[in-house]
Amino acid sequence: MSILWNSEQKTLTLETAGTTYQMAVDQYGVLRHVYYGKKVVPADMMYLHRNYDRGFSGNPYEARTNRSYSLDAVCQEFSSCGVGDFRLPSLRVLSPDGSRCADPRYVRHEIRPGKYALPGLPAALDADGDAATLEAVLEDPGCGLRVRLLYSVLPKKDIIARAVLYENMGTAPLVLEKAGSCCLELPFGSWDLIHFHGRHCAERTPERLPVMHGIQAVGSGRGMSSHQHNPFLILCDHLATEDRGDCYGMMYLYSGSFRAEVEREAYGSVRAVMSVGDESFRWTLLPGESFAAPEVLLSYADGLARLSQQYHAAVRENVCRGEYRLGHRPVLINSWEAVYFHIQPDRILDLARRAADLGVELFVLDDGWFKGRTDDNRALGDWVENRDKLPEGLGRLISDIRKTGLLFGLWVEPEMVSEDSDLYRAHPDWALTVPGRKPTMGRNQLVLDLSRKDVQDFIIHFVSGLLETYDISYIKWDFNRSMTDVYSHLLPAEKQGEVSHRAVLGLYRVLETLVTRFPHVLFEGCAGGGGRFDAGMMHYTPQIWCSDDTDPIERLTIQKGTLFGYPLSTVGAHVSIAPNHQTGRTTPIATRAAVAMAGGFGYELDLSRVAPEDLDAIREQIRDFRADEPLLREGLYFRLDEDLAGMDACAWLLVSPEKDKALLTVVTTATHANAPLMHVRFKGLDPDALYRLKEEDLTLPGSVLMHAGFTLPMLRGDYPSFRLHLERI
Ligand code: GLA
Repeated sequence: MSILWNSEQKTLTLETAGTTYQMAVDQYGVLRHVYYGKKVVPADMMYLHRNYDRGFSGNPYEARTNRSYSLDAVCQEFSSCGVGDFRLPSLRVLSPDGSRCADPRYVRHEIRPGKYALPGLPAALDADGDAATLEAVLEDPGCGLRVRLLYSVLPKKDIIARAVLYENMGTAPLVLEKAGSCCLELPFGSWDLIHFHGRHCAERTPERLPVMHGIQAVGSGRGMSSHQHNPFLILCDHLATEDRGDCYGMMYLYSGSFRAEVEREAYGSVRAVMSVGDESFRWTLLPGESFAAPEVLLSYADGLARLSQQYHAAVRENVCRGEYRLGHRPVLINSWEAVYFHIQPDRILDLARRAADLGVELFVLDDGWFKGRTDDNRALGDWVENRDKLPEGLGRLISDIRKTGLLFGLWVEPEMVSEDSDLYRAHPDWALTVPGRKPTMGRNQLVLDLSRKDVQDFIIHFVSGLLETYDISYIKWDFNRSMTDVYSHLLPAEKQGEVSHRAVLGLYRVLETLVTRFPHVLFEGCAGGGGRFDAGMMHYTPQIWCSDDTDPIERLTIQKGTLFGYPLSTVGAHVSIAPNHQTGRTTPIATRAAVAMAGGFGYELDLSRVAPEDLDAIREQIRDFRADEPLLREGLYFRLDEDLAGMDACAWLLVSPEKDKALLTVVTTATHANAPLMHVRFKGLDPDALYRLKEEDLTLPGSVLMHAGFTLPMLRGDYPSFRLHLERI
């Protein structure tokens, strides 16, 4: 078993293939955090933590004569509130008497095989059959709160999954104002925070900053995980590189508003807390009720590359589910940048025929196909075919497309409603709006209130209807505005602080029902590009449209940031037209494809406007992609930026798990005359094996490629790229 309880030392030690995590119950029943890092021989590591009298740090009543003991100065698994730990609390609880004090202490624990599940929430699965779970029960009789701290070890993945169940064990209602899912303590060291910020068309830009004294926080209050901040953080040693240095990740399986806070306190230790909701979160727990805080996947690795690889494997194999989790996905063409709202059967069919001829496998009809949808100001909610645009109906168009040999996919935006729609006219109370207040509009639309079961059932019903009526293999599930005016017309005033989270639970219920009912359909997530690109959504949609920005040069940053935590298989990426519709930039078709292949590969352009030589290139790209797909989907991913520091280029490498194949990709972002040579070192190869460098007609040992490296040829022209395949012989 990968979880050990030592009853003498009162230590609980969790082990994965490469890491050790230890906690201990101390003399006051506080569940102390002891160690998390590289795997060590099991030992009691409490010796690491020395206590001294720290001025202005209070002492728990039982320790009033032991002034060297303060909750403010010890590392804990779950930090308290209102009782003398002045650092980040893991929870905030309002008692009926108006106090906000909660100090849950250890009462018991249980260790069991398997992975815990969370009611109504996504959670990683025990895909390898080796998981074990620790449930540590903490109670505070003072306020009547019990917390169950859940830890599941995924040994092969070097992941520790964490979640918290809050229970009211008292006789009076409690209000949860903050519900943390995970508290991570780093007692010693000098840390950098890597977080992923952005905006529409520039999602998940990595930013690395030293953790300062005080609190650094990112999060979202938009009811979606957001373009602006991603619910994934890395804390790494200030000197950590791709290859070495302590690196910790916190990945939230949650798609709504969240807070990720990091604090460096007076004595230098760092605490990070991930919690659900924003400042407006308030959840009432009646006696006997419980609340599940979503899951966080923790991981530790020596070096950033390894950390990313660990998350890639865990997300791909333990978080994503269904038929499309691994292996082949159809290469698609999407109609959006080809025709936008101008959907005409002839034009669509022409696009489908051209695509089929090139080797594309799936046609996706994007926005604009439904009743009244002439532009993005109207009609969301009226999910029936638009007879003005499709006089012979959607069924006829689908069957004509199917005759070209392509599968068919459809765009929907189920969680939204336009004011100008039959749905809104019939059910104005289904939208999130505050009585007596004109709602804030976004893309001239409103967000449906998914906290309501009738709204959830409406969505399940109409999406099921589409999937049962038509021959549809794929659904693109969009979400194109942030939540505002968060008010549910069904709930009383004191429950309005629950609406945002209830809406996310509603979404998960809808998606769970649909993916279970339609296991052969591939669902791709989307939110104005990558505004809801998180591991929570990946439990239902194994692929998510990464960004509305399809410019390959912009995508280098967006995808690099995304791939710090999420695997290539989740990243929707398309080759679009040049000049690019978002930036106006012209790039070679080879570069556009090289970048899109670091993701769920597809096309999104008007093929009737593509030059014949580029059409030939596309045919070739699809063939190449097929051949490389296992490597692109399941290979170990290495960023090679450290080798190219100061160069206007971005490079990455994929190496098959068996080390028999590798693919190097380099994309330049500026071309210079008489330029210095670019040189990279391969990683992850078998040092003793011989590799053939396909495009270079060279054969070299792995150790040479890894240590002496490879010098790139001079690349010329606008935004050239370079790909090199390696094969073990
Ligand atoms: C969003 C998506 C796009 C496209 C449009 C359609 O912006 O990200 O890919 O589907 O909506 O309106």
